[in-house]
Amino acid sequence: MIVLGLESSCDETGIALYDTERGLLAHALHSQVAMHEAYGGVVPELASRDHIRRAIPLLDQCLQDASLVCSDIDAIAYTQGPGLAGALLVGASVACSLGLALDLPVLGVHHLEGHLLSPLLSPNPPEFPFVALLVSGGHTQLMRVDGVGRYALLGETVDDAAGEAFDKSAKLLGLGYPGGPAISALANLGNPATHQLPRPMLHSKDLNFSFSGLKTAVLTVVKKHPQALSEQDKADIARGFVDAIVDVLTAKCLAALKQTGLQRLVIAGGVGANLQLRASLNAAAAKRRFKVFYPALEFCTDNGAMIAFAGARQLMENPAAAVRDYAFNVKPRWPLSECRSGLLA
Ligand code: KG4
Ligand code: ZN
Repeated sequence: MIVLGLESSCDETGIALYDTERGLLAHALHSQVAMHEAYGGVVPELASRDHIRRAIPLLDQCLQDASLVCSDIDAIAYTQGPGLAGALLVGASVACSLGLALDLPVLGVHHLEGHLLSPLLSPNPPEFPFVALLVSGGHTQLMRVDGVGRYALLGETVDDAAGEAFDKSAKLLGLGYPGGPAISALANLGNPATHQLPRPMLHSKDLNFSFSGLKTAVLTVVKKHPQALSEQDKADIARGFVDAIVDVLTAKCLAALKQTGLQRLVIAGGVGANLQLRASLNAAAAKRRFKVFYPALEFCTDNGAMIAFAGARQLMENPAAAVRDYAFNVKPRWPLSECRSGLLA
């Protein structure tokens, strides 16, 4: 079965073709980062308009790369939520129009489920069950994953998401959008001893996170500076920020492994691309003998492959999940707990 996947929840248009027998056949992505950069963040209306422009050319590219034609597709999966309403509507309308035109079943996929399952696209995927840390621009959650559609929430952020903390702190340092990769690169040049920033909720004895105080700590350091920040000042602050957030994320992952008794950890979402976080988790894994799995870097941030894959896995378990009802709706706010099979606990 060949599943076409469409991702358009935020500022990336992702299209992919996944074959349940042969694996990922092709994927193509257009990032709108350059377009939104001038505004310091995503402009929803511009995002929607750009998705409209990109979707079909990217689909053509995928079909060409995979040497397929539209009639080879068996089902269509699109991101139904959560995300920006207008951006989601573009993906949903493209998916449903294609479904109607080609007489194909269509399936709405939860964006976070795509992220959660993205490490399974790797050549050496983790077996179930595992603990997953989902760290993106909009979410920070620890989940227990027992199988496709079997997700139990262990803990989550009570305020900002980890990616949001990266982006907001980067903005305070005058770095571009999105700030995660920039602040991470700058941190490598910083002195770890200059700023000891707070590690919020490190000892909270639960698996929840809080990052808004960390961003405020960055703001306080920036404001206290007597003169304009030098490049070294910025690097030192970046280092203080990255060390703090990585410490908290690592400690909570270890606590989740301990609480569940599991020995496999999966990192998903854009912040999973962060190299300092990976180094810290790898060091902890070597010391404590658990295994840590990451999606390929290109599948950490938003992409169509994870949506095609999540759709395909869902259809393999329940072919009736896809329907020929093309009256679509999107779910900009959609807790994973309310998605089809729901949470275990
Ligand atoms: O998963 P994603 O592409 O989109 C959402 O669903 O939100 O995640 C985007 C987030 C942004 O906040 C971005 O700054 C962050 O992931 N990010 C990073 C890195 N690459 C992307 N944060 C830290 N280090 C990185 N290397
Ligand atoms: Zn995402």
